Amino acid sequence: MSGIGIDRDDVIVAPSLLSADFSCLGDEAADVVEAGADWLHLDIMDGHFVPNITFGPRVVAALRQRVKVPLDVHLMIEEPERFLGEFVEAGADIVTVHFEATVHIHRTLQRIRDLGAKAGVAVNPGTPVEVLRDLLDLVDLVLVMSVNPGFGGQAFITGTLARLKRLAELLATSGSAPYVEVDGGINRDTADRVRRYGADVLVAGSYVFSSPDRAEAIASLRGR
Ligand code: DX5
Ligand code: ZN
Repeated sequence: MSGIGIDRDDVIVAPSLLSADFSCLGDEAADVVEAGADWLHLDIMDGHFVPNITFGPRVVAALRQRVKVPLDVHLMIEEPERFLGEFVEAGADIVTVHFEATVHIHRTLQRIRDLGAKAGVAVNPGTPVEVLRDLLDLVDLVLVMSVNPGFGGQAFITGTLARLKRLAELLATSGSAPYVEVDGGINRDTADRVRRYGADVLVAGSYVFSSPDRAEAIASLRGR
């Protein structure tokens, strides 16, 4: 993946700023980058698709000024097609939309690429990964939610492992090789499990931000 390419043998760690101190978001972003974050994961919530509200494109643009790493923007908003241009303009490198959030997922993914960003598609825990079959050649990243989206600090849903296995089978038959990202309840133990089931991008919010040693926490997600 040009621009955000990292050796595929290495897991990518993307701390989620949802668990950062929002009164000093720029400093928090810089701190986790210093601690070894590969990407920054930005959770955008609209109070409709999920029962929580976070921040929008202006905050993404401000963070773009603070850090150089790829910005991995996870849109938990209804009808995300309305805001794609604003998030790409703000500096999003990867824009991930939920399969469940738009009627026209195919067109929405095409549009993200047309705008010059990498396209990601996310599925909630209740959505079979098989719905992605006809979308795989349109995406650079598949995000498998391992909690129901909306909040940090929730417990990892164990059934995610079986879903990752089925996704790996789907990818093997499709010939596509998007990044496989897992988001929710990721810590040292669950990271180890999802890596063995084919995940190569790990999002972690509370685990990284509540750790007294963030560099150690990030390294532990890589199995070190
Ligand atoms: C949840 C968000 C996640 C969240 C993960 O809706 O998409 O990115 O920040 O938080 P943890 O790692 O604490 O489960
Ligand atoms: Zn997220």
